[in-house]
Amino acid sequence: MTVIIDGKQTAASVLDAVKETAAKLESETGKKAGLAVVIVGDDPASHSYVGAKSRMAKECGFNSIQHTLTADTTQDELADLVLRLNDDPDVHGILVQLPLPTHLSPDPVIQSIRPEKDVDGLNATNAGKVSIGDTKTGLVSCTPAGAMIFVRRAHGQDLSGLNALVIGRSNLFGKPMAQLLLNANATVMIAHSTTKDLPALCRTADILVVAVGQPEMVKAGWIKPGATVIDVGINRIETLERSGKSRLVGDVAFKECLEVADVITPVPGGVGPMTIAMLMANTVTAAIRANG
Ligand code: GUN
Repeated sequence: MTVIIDGKQTAASVLDAVKETAAKLESETGKKAGLAVVIVGDDPASHSYVGAKSRMAKECGFNSIQHTLTADTTQDELADLVLRLNDDPDVHGILVQLPLPTHLSPDPVIQSIRPEKDVDGLNATNAGKVSIGDTKTGLVSCTPAGAMIFVRRAHGQDLSGLNALVIGRSNLFGKPMAQLLLNANATVMIAHSTTKDLPALCRTADILVVAVGQPEMVKAGWIKPGATVIDVGINRIETLERSGKSRLVGDVAFKECLEVADVITPVPGGVGPMTIAMLMANTVTAAIRANG
């Protein structure tokens, strides 16, 4: 029987621990963990993600601050806000939602967040720590950290002898995911848009992690029988043309791949809930480090 991972349930247990830790911090030091989420512009999907992050921060008992900036915000204005948040002792975590409007460069913004407040794990210090195998003293990128919980549950702590393929090479997901798998001794490959014969490569993977943003791209014939399949895609597709109805699907054709894989994550309800849970976990970790 194929195991369908319940991301909501796993996220709920991470969040229970976060709430307990945040409450303990507050009772011992009088300090609430603080998360500042910054969104620029009007992208509806980004607003929905950011709203969920801010709400969850409140639910965890954090001081939750959302900065909603207009689409014409300048690079200097955004930089000034990040500098203010860096200096605010009540803010322990800063997240600037990506993508930014095209006139803004994300990199200087991300790199200007103080590493100890970079709860997305995106700046060079935190990404660098993951790449040298240090996942303890920095902050690890949320979605890969969540996906690794699923991988470890299926295969244990040591992935020696297992082939892992990550499709997608973003700084937000693909690169840190590959590093985490490598740290756990998997034999890791990263595929991307110019990779040749992707289906054949996929069939070598005991652990297949897909983050490409292409609805149901990975088919059953691409899956090695018995593989663990982690689907990071969240794609909204219209169900009936012009009906206005839509549903969310991943990058993996779930129903058919279910027949071949041993372990698989659904969309929605797989990796998605873990991203927010790990963001909360990073924030409470940052708050404890600042006040401990
Ligand atoms: N956009 C989509 N996912 C994320 C994320 O995890 N962090 C940030 N900052 N932006 C995103």
